[in-house]
Amino acid sequence: MPTRVSSYSKINLGLAIGALRADGFHQLVTVYQTLALSDAVTVTARRAVKTAITIRSKDARIPTDGRNTAWKMVEFALVKAGFAAVVEVEIEKNLPVQGGLGAGSGNAAAALVGLERELGLNLAGPSRLEIAAEVGSDVPLFLVGGTVLGLGRGEAVYPLPDLPEMACVVAVPEVGVSTPQAFLDWDRLGVQEKLTPEASHARLSKLSRAIAAGFSGVSAVGGDLAGNPLLELVRTGIENDFEKVVFPLHPRLREIKHILEVGAVYAALSGSGSALFGLYADDQSAEQAAVRVRAAGVKAFVTRTISRAELVDD
Ligand code: C5P
Repeated sequence: MPTRVSSYSKINLGLAIGALRADGFHQLVTVYQTLALSDAVTVTARRAVKTAITIRSKDARIPTDGRNTAWKMVEFALVKAGFAAVVEVEIEKNLPVQGGLGAGSGNAAAALVGLERELGLNLAGPSRLEIAAEVGSDVPLFLVGGTVLGLGRGEAVYPLPDLPEMACVVAVPEVGVSTPQAFLDWDRLGVQEKLTPEASHARLSKLSRAIAAGFSGVSAVGGDLAGNPLLELVRTGIENDFEKVVFPLHPRLREIKHILEVGAVYAALSGSGSALFGLYADDQSAEQAAVRVRAAGVKAFVTRTISRAELVDD
């Protein structure tokens, strides 16, 4: 019987980019937060003598061959498990394809969950994270879910205490941002601004300290956190480094951020974009922000953050 799995999205609550590593990836510190906004992935699988993978989607932008993240995940998982199987994966897209919301990465994680259920596979936690990291830097986070610290190239994930549930507006401008290009632009900016390796490292340390302070509930300036570490993170000054290279190229995105910021606890670009998000203390503020974004001619979704327990139990 086919197994249908919700394939969630993520935003980045702060993202600091560090040095370019010898393997071509950049050192990162980020906090991921999973959102209820989702695609659906349906997996049908049976053991066979030889592996055959089929990917289907009504969305023509989705590659249906080995370039597809769900394909890669299924292939890696079967190799790891030492099984051959005939596997069909159907991807129902609601999320933007190249948006900074980790949609393709979420699809891969959901495909793994579906495959495991279909075949009764029981891969060990570290093996699951390992193959997820091989598929992409922001795939492992979806196997953890909720509020997640991302280190290394973003693939080294650590569960943080879940933030209290918050309303979220995701704005999806019709602008494509290439992640590898955004990283290259960051390197170029670093050269221009003569960012030394020490200064680069200090940026990562600063965000790490803000995260540690936020989640330990210890406020550097005192005051009531009202139980939400995000307030402390915002107070300490989280930011997404990609904004420094993406906003100058696409000034419209900065304007949309400003629209989202009205009434928000925090608003920012997600990943390298072009999706932007605002987090709100109540549904009404979120609804009003979505109306303003749409009035500016940009697609907006009203959603909410999703906790680790909700994501894993789904
Ligand atoms: O891991 P993922 O497939 O998402 O990475 C896509 C590309 O983004 C990489 O090939 C690399 O160019 C860039 N990247 C990076 N540093 C990271 C993550 C991604 O430079 N931490």
